[in-house]
Parts: sequence; structure tokens; C-alpha cells
Amino acid sequence: MHILDLDVFNREDIIKIIDYGFYFKKHRKSHEKLLKDKNIAMIFEKPSTRTRMSFEIAINELGGNAIVMHSNEIHLRKKESIKDTAKVMSRYVDCIIARVYKHSDLVEFSKHSSVPVINALSDLAHPCQVLADLMTIREYKDFNIKLAYLGDGNNVCNSLIIGSALMGIDICVATPRGYEPNAYAVLKALEIIKEYGEGSITLTNDPIEAVKDADVLYTDVWVSMGDNKSMEDVLKIFPKYQINKKLLSYAKDNAIVMHCMPINRGYEMTDDVADSERSVIYDQAENRLHVQKGLFKFLFTSPSH
Ligand code: CP
Ligand code: NVA
Repeated sequence: MHILDLDVFNREDIIKIIDYGFYFKKHRKSHEKLLKDKNIAMIFEKPSTRTRMSFEIAINELGGNAIVMHSNEIHLRKKESIKDTAKVMSRYVDCIIARVYKHSDLVEFSKHSSVPVINALSDLAHPCQVLADLMTIREYKDFNIKLAYLGDGNNVCNSLIIGSALMGIDICVATPRGYEPNAYAVLKALEIIKEYGEGSITLTNDPIEAVKDADVLYTDVWVSMGDNKSMEDVLKIFPKYQINKKLLSYAKDNAIVMHCMPINRGYEMTDDVADSERSVIYDQAENRLHVQKGLFKFLFTSPSH
């Protein structure tokens, strides 16, 4: 099973992974070594703090061996085809985690890998982040909520849309015109919402419409790694989507504020909000570690994965 985005899961799978995550959060060091004798490779074409550290620590704490390769250390696409790299690496290791610029490269890689491939962020999706986000939402709320996403309709937004649909969340996405989420994620979400008969997705350009009566506010950077948006345009178009005290006042009184981090403080989120008691950003970051252990447990112990 390859995990390129959350649409490979159903609701039951996500609940299972999150529940495992809560178990691992409670039993940080004393649990079974389920990755004993397993080697797991991680490829990073872009920088990372949370993803790299949380995965490497998760692997080590579960008794496995993590091998981290940055793009300048590996023949990927430049000196060797993606196909050959994938075929060779999957003869060595039990799982491959990759952060890449182009999602299509990950699709190509996964086609030729005989071991599971996990997307650690591509230009299209960031499924592991959203597993941690759903775990955090579960920690503070339930899934019967309105979630407002504000800003750029990027990789995190695409996975959040699919994750929300899977859990029956009402998600309202407010982006500037021309920066909407990918149609693939929206269509997938609509299919899932129809299948489960609950949840909804609304796309708008109006941040106040999104935030009104929301239980959760979520934002991400306005310029993602590898984006070539002009800063001049960004600073003209995006500031009205900033999560600040004023925008937060339209949400429910007990609404929480989320960000996958890293944050450009003062841009998509103000300091006073990021550091307020409404902010759960550090829990989200911590939960990456726990839920990724849950993901390994799901991958390596569930039948047929
Ligand atoms: N949120 C997240 O994926 O952070 P990193 O880029 O630090 O891994
Ligand atoms: N959308 C951001 C997420 C970083 C974790 C990016 O792709 O740079």
C-alpha cells in the first residue's frame, strides 16, 4: 500500500491510525518494537524540521533503522531514472518516505517500488501532516465541527479537504481567486461526502464567511517551498486571509487555531494569535511523532498492507 494522499484510507482506517497515535502518545517509550529489523529510507528534496525529526524519532523509538538521504546524496532523476532508483531501493528497505517537489515523481516512484511509499509532502499533498491535524482536532473537539481553512489552496489544504471529508467535517476554504485548492482534492472530497452522507465542502473568497461560527481555524504559508508566486502579488492579495484577533472574533468563542508550521509570523498568522491559548500549533507538531507511529502500526500489522 502506498500513501500518496489520504484518499487511500476510509474513515475506519483513519480512526484506527489516530487511536494508535493516542496509544503511542500515552506510552512514549515502553511499547512494542514493531519496526525491529526494519530499515526505512527517507528521501528529502526539500528542507524539513518536523517531518524529518518526527519520522526519524518514530522509527528509532519503534526499534527500526532510519536512513535519511537528501537530494544531493542520491541519484534521483538526475543521474538515474526514478524507476531504477525505486526498484533498487525497494530491494534494500521495508518502506520509503519521500518529500519531493513534483507529486508526479512520487507517483512514478511508487509505481516501481515493491515496498510502501509514504508522501512526506509534495506540491499536491501532505497526508502525514493531516493525520496529525485530525488527531489534534480529535484531542480538542470531535469531528462534528466547522473547520475554516484560510489562505493558499496548497498541498496542506488539499489533504485537509480530503481528511475532513473522510471524517464528516464541514470544511470551508477561503482563498483568493486563482489560489483555490486542486480540483482533484475537491472532487475526491465530494465523492467521499456523498458516500458517507455527511460533511460538506464550501469554497469561497470571503475569509469572514469561512470563519463565521467555525470551531477550528487553519492556515498555512502563503508561499510554499518550490512556489514561484511573486511576493509583490502575495502581499497585495493574501493579507485579508491573515488569522489575527479580529478575524478570530467571528469564530466560536472556543475555536482553536491551527497551522502545520513553519509559520511566517506576521503574515498568515499574527504573533498574538499563534502564542495565544487558542493556538494548538505545538500539539499539532508533537502529534506528528505519535500518529506516524500509528501509521507504521497500521502499515505493518494490518492484514493486506
Ligand atoms: N509541517 C511540516 O511538514 O514541517 P516541516 O517542513 O518542518 O517538515
Ligand atoms: N505548504 C507548505 C507546507 C510546509 C510544511 C510547503 O509546501 O512549503
